[in-house]
Amino acid sequence: MKVKPILITGCSSGIGRCVAEGLKARGYRVFATARKAEDVEALQAKGLESLPLDLNSTDSIRSAVDETLARTGGRLYGLFNNAGYGQPGAVEDLRREVLRAQFETNLFGMLELTNRVIPVMRAQGAGRIIQNSSLLGFVALPYRGAYNASKFALEGLTDTLRLELAGSGIHVSIIEPGPIKSRFRANAHAAYRQNIDPEHSAHRERYRGLERRLTKQGPAAPFTLPPEAVLKKVIHALESPRPKIRYPVTAPAHFFATLKRLLPHGALDWVLQQVAKGEHR
Ligand SMILES: NC(=O)c1ccc[n+]([C@@H]2O[C@H](COP(=O)([O-])OP(=O)(O)OC[C@H]3O[C@@H](n4cnc5c(N)ncnc54)[C@H](OP(=O)(O)O)[C@@H]3O)[C@@H](O)[C@H]2O)c1
Repeated sequence: MKVKPILITGCSSGIGRCVAEGLKARGYRVFATARKAEDVEALQAKGLESLPLDLNSTDSIRSAVDETLARTGGRLYGLFNNAGYGQPGAVEDLRREVLRAQFETNLFGMLELTNRVIPVMRAQGAGRIIQNSSLLGFVALPYRGAYNASKFALEGLTDTLRLELAGSGIHVSIIEPGPIKSRFRANAHAAYRQNIDPEHSAHRERYRGLERRLTKQGPAAPFTLPPEAVLKKVIHALESPRPKIRYPVTAPAHFFATLKRLLPHGALDWVLQQVAKGEHR
């Protein structure tokens, strides 16, 4: 493939937008998707080829893939499954539909899109699927249960998929960012306000700290990096003859990946409790 077509989800802001612009500058043919019409228009105005794609809608997924393939003559080299959001809240405060909504976007929509793309890549005998997971896809933190569950599930599904695609020419990589500058916190705050009722929760007091973290100006966590840090890993996953299975991004992601391998479960829990206490002070 001379110019390699790549489809990216969630390009309205943050990591998705940065990766879309970065890959275009590198010579890829980027299909930068977003779910809102105004964001699609804004991306087009920046010179990107942009299409609507809402992971919560089967029709939207189907038409985005069909349109992309119509424009590329049926070829697609890469898929960056980036779109997602975090639903904050204690596990005991999560209503069934709130957890389901988290999975609809972060897991089920991603899977449906991926499964539409795999036959194209199989026919080519080549392709790269890159999953934007998280540091919270392998360690848990309090008040992130819905998000943790969706990203742990993404990691499990992806590990299985990689084994099943062995020998097909399709490589599957997982990016595991720690804190990255984006609209993630603002969007998480909106999801918190919409779906959590702090006044009727046993966690009322801890929610005050969580609200402070979600609304804090500037980086909420130490070691926050700009989204270009993720772009670098995406480029490696697309271009290396031997892409890595996992790409931790940021110092905390490397640190916790190591701790998870070395510490007994109880000791890791103790460390994570200290992190949570520090965050919600
Ligand atoms: N920022 C971090 O610290 C961090 C760390 C680890 C992992 N991540 C992961 O990185 C990915 C990108 O997040 P970000 O940090 O760049 O945050 P962001 O700025 O909030 O971007 C999230 C993107 O996902 C889109 N999105 C949400 N629901 C969608 C749906 N139903 N269909 C299609 N698109 C949807 C958003 O679109 P709208 O604008 O329409 O909402 C937005 O474009 C996420 O998967 C996130 O879990 C982020």
